[in-house]
Amino acid sequence: MKIKELSNKYKQYVIDMRREFHMYPELSWQEIRTSKRIKEELESMGISYESVGDTGIVATVKGGKEGKTVALRADIDALEVQQLNKVPYRSNHEGVMHACGHDGHAAMLLGAAKILNEIKGEIKGVVKFFFQPAEEVAQGAKKMIEEGVMEGVNGIFGLHLWVDIPCGTVSIQEGPRMASADLFKIIVKGKGGHGSMPHQGIDTVLAASAIVMDLQSIVSREVSPLESVVVSVGSLHSGTRFNVIASEAVMEGTTRCFNPEIRKSLSPMMERIVKNTASSYRATATLDYTYMTPAVINDPISSAIGEKSVEKLLGKEGLVRFKEIMGAEDYSFFLEKAPGALAFIGAGNKKGEYNYPHHHGRFDIDEDALQIGTALYAQYAVDFLDQG
Ligand code: NI
Repeated sequence: MKIKELSNKYKQYVIDMRREFHMYPELSWQEIRTSKRIKEELESMGISYESVGDTGIVATVKGGKEGKTVALRADIDALEVQQLNKVPYRSNHEGVMHACGHDGHAAMLLGAAKILNEIKGEIKGVVKFFFQPAEEVAQGAKKMIEEGVMEGVNGIFGLHLWVDIPCGTVSIQEGPRMASADLFKIIVKGKGGHGSMPHQGIDTVLAASAIVMDLQSIVSREVSPLESVVVSVGSLHSGTRFNVIASEAVMEGTTRCFNPEIRKSLSPMMERIVKNTASSYRATATLDYTYMTPAVINDPISSAIGEKSVEKLLGKEGLVRFKEIMGAEDYSFFLEKAPGALAFIGAGNKKGEYNYPHHHGRFDIDEDALQIGTALYAQYAVDFLDQG
């Protein structure tokens, strides 16, 4: 099949769509225009679709032959970032920007829909296209799954444009690729009093400070040094006045890790430290731990299929290995429902003109990456379904 040629044919289409999405970025759950434009494009291709989770869309292309079902996923939301670079396709929405590449994801999935629709007679099975809202708040995937999009899906494939990898290369190796991200809140309770007579009160500033320090011993003393874990306290609020003993402290933070077993053990470890440290200062404390996003772990078989797909499109030199990322992706919820993989599509600018990190106001991609991602979506779908 001629996927590479077709991706070339639709190269400009995908670039144009990406630039359009870039000009009209929309925040999580507010992807109204984006969603409307995707539907219009699908209609013009003659592809049927359904709306899910308000601004989400699932489109379906049935192949000419019977077979399994594969889903291709793109997230479509933007971020509260003020655009700082002066590109012709600059954001028209003040303070909102596609600073993570999701504009490209949506455009590439539309390009892949064009390709797969064109060759559907040769396709052995069904391809579903998931246009997912609200990835940046880690809610969209969950919502789509609740609405039943993964029913009957045998495999899932997603990708992320990634500027830390040079354009022209792709990473889709097996194993952990992105970390889990959970949230915690700690409330320390003591007793107020006069700052000059601390013994009459129970100082929560002191107890909370000790808890922050002791929590770091989880990573350094309780988890194997060969495993990656982050425990970060991001905010600590306590006290009202310089000479008043604070009676309450509230902290919030996040944990990150790749190993699901370690993930499960973090909350009990923290609970023990939080309670015991508080009590050693005569205070009491509670831990409220919220599980948010699991780690993205690529299934070995799906990764192997994807690596072959990359080789078909770019040759062996197109495949690179890339260290896992401590950031999180709610794509992991789809991976809990069906085997699959997440590919990182190198989008680093070859000329090095605007190499800024994801979520930066000057973030941009090398648009040559768009053709690669488009082709890989389509190639993966075909290769997965050909396996039978
Ligand atoms: Ni992203």
